[in-house]
Amino acid sequence: MKAVIVYYSGTGNTQTLANLISQSLFKLGILHDIFDIAKIKSFQDISLEYDLYILGCPAMGFEELEKLDFRPLFDYLLPNLLGKNIALFGSYSWGNGEWMTKWEQEVLKSKAKLIQKGLIIKDQSKENDYDKVNNFVINLVRRQNEN
Ligand SMILES: Cc1cc2nc3c(=O)[nH]c(=O)nc-3n(C[C@H](O)[C@H](O)[C@H](O)COP(=O)(O)O)c2cc1C
Repeated sequence: MKAVIVYYSGTGNTQTLANLISQSLFKLGILHDIFDIAKIKSFQDISLEYDLYILGCPAMGFEELEKLDFRPLFDYLLPNLLGKNIALFGSYSWGNGEWMTKWEQEVLKSKAKLIQKGLIIKDQSKENDYDKVNNFVINLVRRQNEN
């Protein structure tokens, strides 16, 4: 099984989550790549051959995905991930996580599979969020292996 984490982060909170997810995957011995989308040259840098896509984006706009970098990438990826498993995560602040619910709905309407509920963490992750992140990863690896 090979996984990929692809994320956007403006002020680093979602990046911290991406790194924590990467550490948890590493501990479970799951091979994976990790891409900060601000650093990729083209969408094609992200292979369509991974088994599991773990996508991260904070709440932006009015409960939206970030528009300039993440939204175009997601719009490219989603129709190309026929039958692939997707998990979502991101940081938010003053809302109630509505951006994640809307994002999950988009995946549910697509031909990809939402492997489990998205991970949402308020602001900067604190020590007591680490277990949440770890459990998110343990569950998603379990579900991936059940497929
Ligand atoms: C332009 C902008 C729009 C935002 N819109 C929302 C929002 O609609 N709902 C919300 O809960 N947080 C919103 N936030 C807060 C961010 O989601 C929050 O600060 C998050 O931790 C940022 O993650 P990052 O450090 O990975 O960029 C917004 C932040 C910015 C800068």
